[in-house]
Amino acid sequence: MICMIDEQKNVDAETLKSCCTKFYETDLVAMLLGEHFHPGGEKVTLYLGEKLGLDENTLVLDVACGAGASALTLAKRFGCHVVGIDLSEKNLAKAKEKAVSAGLSQRVNFVRADAEKIKSCDGIFDAAICECALCTFPDMKTAVSEMYRVLKKGGKVGITDVVIEDEIPHSFKDILSHVACISGALSDEGYQKILREGGFNDVLYEAHSYAIRELFERVDKLLYGWELMKKFCDCDLEMSMGIAPEKAKRLVNMVFEELEKGTIEYGLFTGIKE
Ligand SMILES: C[S@@+](CC[C@H](N)C(=O)[O-])C[C@H]1O[C@@H](n2cnc3c(N)ncnc32)[C@H](O)[C@@H]1O
Repeated sequence: MICMIDEQKNVDAETLKSCCTKFYETDLVAMLLGEHFHPGGEKVTLYLGEKLGLDENTLVLDVACGAGASALTLAKRFGCHVVGIDLSEKNLAKAKEKAVSAGLSQRVNFVRADAEKIKSCDGIFDAAICECALCTFPDMKTAVSEMYRVLKKGGKVGITDVVIEDEIPHSFKDILSHVACISGALSDEGYQKILREGGFNDVLYEAHSYAIRELFERVDKLLYGWELMKKFCDCDLEMSMGIAPEKAKRLVNMVFEELEKGTIEYGLFTGIKE
């Protein structure tokens, strides 16, 4: 099981980070999300790369890079150099393997680091991205200040994340909702404020609402298949997948309700260090 704790109350920051890291190492996530662990997948990442004006002279930091899908996508399309950081040794190892198979290991590196405590690297990056992870960090402000610190003057930040415009229903306040980027999500104003307070100028926001619906529809279908499998096989899927299917299904249904109300979407934020 990824995390035995249901209630998010009184969970310390390090436990939250560790639950998130373990969740994205599970077979369940690989099965449900595929390569990219964020709504919009490659399409949103490529769009973000265009917005940031990446090219072969750009050095990019991918904060909370997961299994490396965004870093590799950007290096392949724009010819940029990318350093991906994450807390998961397991996903970093997968990312390194993929870089080698794609012939990109000269341009893409992966290193274990905490987004809230990136060591040194003052003012060396041209761009910093963080896809669907900022809202899981216990201290988002520090993570944004870290991105600001490692950027050069004129460097750009690009964040994509879940945006929730309303008060989150209490039912979302458990660990699964947190690691699934729901309970920690901010409003669009909330993210913009954190970026401005972190020092960024020209902060812009765009909604990519289709992305979150698409992802949860895909997850819903796969969970249905999973439930069918459970009926016909005598295996402990909960143990092998790392989470109870009913819990995942309940979360998906709650997200559909919020989508109907129009309170949840996927947002893209950019800013400049002047
Ligand atoms: C939703 S996934 C997003 C991964 C990747 N950006 C993508 O879109 O494919 C969240 C990632 O954040 C990582 N993570 C969580 N807390 C972190 C932290 N404090 N520092 C670095 N990575 C962290 C997890 O290990 C996980 O890989």
